[in-house]
Amino acid sequence: MVMRSALEPRQLRRVFGSFPTGVTALAALVGDAPTGLAANSFVSVSLDPPMVSVCVARTSTTWPRLREANRLGVSVLGAHQEHVGRQLSAQVADRFAALSWRASQDGAVLLEGSSAWLDCSIEREIPAGDHDIVLLRVHDLDADPAVPPLVFHGSQYRRLHP
Ligand SMILES: Cc1cc2nc3c(=O)[nH]c(=O)nc-3n(C[C@H](O)[C@H](O)[C@H](O)COP(=O)(O)O)c2cc1C
Repeated sequence: MVMRSALEPRQLRRVFGSFPTGVTALAALVGDAPTGLAANSFVSVSLDPPMVSVCVARTSTTWPRLREANRLGVSVLGAHQEHVGRQLSAQVADRFAALSWRASQDGAVLLEGSSAWLDCSIEREIPAGDHDIVLLRVHDLDADPAVPPLVFHGSQYRRLHP
């Protein structure tokens, strides 16, 4: 008889992935180069002081470079930016090739045309199993309600029904 554990990684991914999320781009200038990754673990945390969080895998090769930046940009991707989510999670030489982005004065990289953006600094990193919970302090932010968000659910990119 084959024993199946409810806590197998495949089952955990399937159940965790049943919670619909948005998709964010975490990005900053490292040296002169835009550096970043796609993350759907973004959560708003606190209004006073303003804080949000993301969870980053301990296996990430980008995070050790990204965490050295003074500021970290969080862009909430719009429904038209599925290609940005794909590109910023791919193993490619230049994740920012052909993408439109701007850098804030302090080096946060923000994707043009996103639904919302936040200019953050790292407040604290909390080890949590195979990920780190990264608590971010928000310094500046804005949202464009005219840009509908990209949705991630069941391992697929989706859109909100109009
Ligand atoms: C929709 C989507 C959401 C993702 N969310 C996260 C996340 O919240 N945390 C994380 O560490 N990686 C996440 N990833 C994976 C990263 O984007 C990236 O592929 C991973 O960090 C490996 O690349 P790296 O070695 O350059 O860091 C996500 C990927 C996709 C496609």
